[in-house]
Amino acid sequence: MATTAEDLSRSRGISYQQLISEDPVPPPTALTLENPYHSDLTSVPVARYTDPAFHQLEMQKLWARVWQMACREEEIPNVGDYILYEIGHFSIIVVRTKEGIRAHHNVCRHRGRRLKDFNGHTANFICPFHGFSWNLDGSVRGITSDWDFPQINKAEFGLNAVQADTWGGWVFINMDLTAAPLQDFIKDLSEQFDYWKPEARYIEAHVGKVMKCNWKAAQEAFMEAFHVITTHPQLLAGIGDENSQYDAWGNLSRAITPNATPSPHIKWDPTEQDMLEAVSMRDLDAPEMPDLPEGVTARAAMAAMMREGMQALMGDDAVLSDAELSDSIYYTQFPNFHPWGGTNRIVYRFRPWKNRHDRCLMECYYLSPFQGERPAPAPMHFLGEDEPWTDAPELGMLAKVFTQDTFNLPQVQAGMESAQFEEVVFANYQETKLRHFHDLLTQWVERD
Ligand code: FES
Ligand SMILES: [Fe+2]
Repeated sequence: MATTAEDLSRSRGISYQQLISEDPVPPPTALTLENPYHSDLTSVPVARYTDPAFHQLEMQKLWARVWQMACREEEIPNVGDYILYEIGHFSIIVVRTKEGIRAHHNVCRHRGRRLKDFNGHTANFICPFHGFSWNLDGSVRGITSDWDFPQINKAEFGLNAVQADTWGGWVFINMDLTAAPLQDFIKDLSEQFDYWKPEARYIEAHVGKVMKCNWKAAQEAFMEAFHVITTHPQLLAGIGDENSQYDAWGNLSRAITPNATPSPHIKWDPTEQDMLEAVSMRDLDAPEMPDLPEGVTARAAMAAMMREGMQALMGDDAVLSDAELSDSIYYTQFPNFHPWGGTNRIVYRFRPWKNRHDRCLMECYYLSPFQGERPAPAPMHFLGEDEPWTDAPELGMLAKVFTQDTFNLPQVQAGMESAQFEEVVFANYQETKLRHFHDLLTQWVERD
């Protein structure tokens, strides 16, 4: 497998210099040169990634107050089904009740034991320590030896509530009971996804892996196409990395990276067949692509192949543009939810792992359309920090791409931990999504 530019140039028998132009690349012609996202933020303190105190500030000012994706509705289909959503030191029970989905802090109000240790199904929440119990809606069910607790007013002794709401088949929670409604927070996201109907999809695959880096360092590796040049060199013949469009507004940002078109970085002229092979990852041992008929572009062929597959699932009424079928359209809903647009199946989520500033959990969902009865959602396939993505065959070719992406990340964390400078710097345009994210993060952590 070619994992670096050097591997690739070896396998092609040409030098790295021949493969990738080191001449100055002109800015993308399709774009106005002025970045529509205006902000003075061009760098951020390294301490945002390396300082445990900044992690604690995020726990207190961000995670304890912001709407965040907790799970899919399909993961708790029946009354009594619940999942545990963990974020830093917080643990939250998300449960389906007769009245809808509710969320509570996963903490017994007697002497503080966590009520549940695993996801599951239950009629009520009974603490394993002394047997206090609560109903699914969080109200008190029973106090053991209640004669001995005259100070407890049962009406006020419910589980600590967390807000819960849904959009697009996803469940979001917010620990701040005074926070404005979810729909206010994600209105731009819901507008963008209206046509693609994420609620009509199911979890075909779900893989989570512990990463040896801060959660922001991990997600930022998936918020730009700027890294393709040296991280995924095998794609360059078929990806318009530097011709990507980046937008940011409200709590949302978006990148559109055109596929089946050559990178401005290469200084050779790939054929349409080269572009198709590159985008379909032949250099990562993907199956061979059919020969393109004369006059058919790689882009048209790719869109046609995708259209055929998608219409079989979404029905003949689905009108899908070539761009929705073949480009990479990747959103970031602040702070950590990354659904891909168009017909792409990918959704990422990143969050701190075990309350550590230098570990995170990266999850990848494949959210796929289906016909007929909703298939059961795939449970999360958990990979520890030393287990490779390729141990999750359900990811297909993407496991190899992730291997390339995540190969950098422990070294990014280690580099930042030893850095002798104060700030990491961001590209004005190609790192728009990072700049926008950090502007929002600044607002959250500086809030009273
Ligand atoms: S700690 Fe839960 S019942 Fe005592
Ligand atoms: Fe990547």
